Amino acid sequence: MSSMFSLEGKVAIVTGASRWTGKVVALEMARAGADLLICARKAERLEAAAEEVRGLGRRCIAVPTNVENAEQVSAMVCRAKEAFGRIDILVNSAGTSMPVSTLELAEDRFDAMVRLNLKAHFLCSRAVAPVMIEQGGGCIVDVASTEGLRASPTNCAYGAAKAGLMNLVKTLAVEWGRYRIRVNAVAPGFIATPIHPGYMEGYPHLKAIYERVPLGRGVTMEEVAAAVIYLASDAAGGTTGITLPVDGGLTSLM
Ligand SMILES: NC(=O)c1ccc[n+]([C@@H]2O[C@H](COP(=O)([O-])OP(=O)(O)OC[C@H]3O[C@@H](n4cnc5c(N)ncnc54)[C@H](OP(=O)(O)O)[C@@H]3O)[C@@H](O)[C@H]2O)c1
Repeated sequence: MSSMFSLEGKVAIVTGASRWTGKVVALEMARAGADLLICARKAERLEAAAEEVRGLGRRCIAVPTNVENAEQVSAMVCRAKEAFGRIDILVNSAGTSMPVSTLELAEDRFDAMVRLNLKAHFLCSRAVAPVMIEQGGGCIVDVASTEGLRASPTNCAYGAAKAGLMNLVKTLAVEWGRYRIRVNAVAPGFIATPIHPGYMEGYPHLKAIYERVPLGRGVTMEEVAAAVIYLASDAAGGTTGITLPVDGGLTSLM
């Protein structure tokens, strides 16, 4: 009997899947049974990630794509449809932050943060929705951040973009519910990526927040992936429009 948490027979696109969280999400989704199209900008690292996914016995194609570019996003979605015939799940994981104090934040850097962490989610979701509507449904999971749930000192553009993203999730869930498209997000707190411990040393105020995390540690990339898989699976069939914190209890302190 197949579990409600299984992704067996489903086709997923994962953006930002060439390293760290996005790559672990892709690998765990493959372990849960999904076939995948993965994208990021740098082709070599992306292809290496796709090879790892294929090593798990699933189909996976790597399509180098800048998710900030509507034409490239549209071409990537067409490739998925051509290769697999359907798209059941979109995971928007591509995103990044570049901490700097707001007084020193240049306008173009602000725009770049919003383009990747908010607008690209809109572009990918808008491109995939017609395919999902045509096939009778689907689901979208966005990777947000607890930075969008609280003040985000030295990360104002990132925090504002992630806060906007959580609102976008609610709006798309309401607009697209009639098409049986579910839209949800996960909001990781501190993720234990390879740079995590050293990175924190450069930002004392972040370290101070980190030291208050109730579970006393960063969440693992696998724990973020597990939450994504839950929201993408039939187990979350009744859930849309929410943001699920995966943060070791951080938001309970706010
Ligand atoms: N790290 C944390 O502690 C933390 C906490 C909360 C939330 N998050 C969120 O979790 C997600 C993953 O973060 P991470 O730190 O694990 O990964 P990351 O190192 O920031 O990796 C980002 C991924 O996205 C790709 N990417 C970046 N810009 C892109 C673009 N314009 N088009 C397509 N792909 C692009 C990168 O590959 P290319 O450079 O080759 O394009 C890479 O595969 C992000 O959304 C981030 O905001 C992270």
